[in-house]
Amino acid sequence: MSDYSFKSKHIISMRDLDRAELDYLVETAGAIEEGRIKPDMRGKIAALLFFEPSTRTCFSFESAMKRMGGEALLMKGTGATSVKKGESFTDTLKTIERYSDIIVIRHAIEGAARLASEVLQLPVVNAGDGANQHPTQALLDLYSIKKTHGTLDNLKIGLVGDLRFGRTVHSLAQALASYNPEFYFVSPGFLEMPAHIKADLTARGIKYTEVSEVEPVVPELDIMYVTRIQRERFADPEDYERLKGSYIIDLKTIEGAKKNMKILHPLPRVDEITVAVDSSPHAYYFDQAENGVYMRQAILSILMGGIQK
Ligand code: CP
Repeated sequence: MSDYSFKSKHIISMRDLDRAELDYLVETAGAIEEGRIKPDMRGKIAALLFFEPSTRTCFSFESAMKRMGGEALLMKGTGATSVKKGESFTDTLKTIERYSDIIVIRHAIEGAARLASEVLQLPVVNAGDGANQHPTQALLDLYSIKKTHGTLDNLKIGLVGDLRFGRTVHSLAQALASYNPEFYFVSPGFLEMPAHIKADLTARGIKYTEVSEVEPVVPELDIMYVTRIQRERFADPEDYERLKGSYIIDLKTIEGAKKNMKILHPLPRVDEITVAVDSSPHAYYFDQAENGVYMRQAILSILMGGIQK
């Protein structure tokens, strides 16, 4: 392990992390998976506050904490909390802060995790805020790409699907920007990558091409990152009905792919990758979900000072 002092207290947005921090997180996740380091979280408690539904993020954080000997307080929705009696968001957080050592928060409102980091003394981890950011997903995506390709540098990456509302692709594009990628943004016009992300990439000298069809770019790609059309973020259900099923990746779609092209997906999927693709050597999305545990062990232990150098 490199000797490195992690600078960030919180993980809220990919723009807050520099390349050295990203490398350190990826390196730490690898060392944890391979058993070279064993973070000790005994006596530590993580509060996992999920104001929005989750399977992978929530359970992988819980699994990560338990594998390190720590414990987790789990809130799945506000139904059984005093939010139902009218307690404010910040009062809820300031109370739970007294019971835990780190706060992991998912919320439908963009900026909720940033606000939490401003009112709390504890480290705060953004587990997804609306259509904005999902930085811990991007970190496990980096770790997955490093495992499959041996490097993060100079890769050709296709981001496919809902690039407008898909927070994972916003974070991943900004994370990969530290590694000189060439991007293909594949989406219908209505769901294109937000202008502020594209402006950020341009300012950092990153090349991207926007297209509406996936097949022509498949032979170029090292990574095809497929996303669900985010039904819950559409203001007009008719737009969702018009755009759902825009991309369905099947075995024919990937016929011309490079041998080591890997398909990633943050999951859950609806219909954008057929089940037949799961047994293809290109499919990597369930391994990717497993990698989330190692990366979240790295995140929790680094932010709580549990890595022994
Ligand atoms: N990838 C991801 O965030 O999945 P969940 O919504 O199930 O946590």
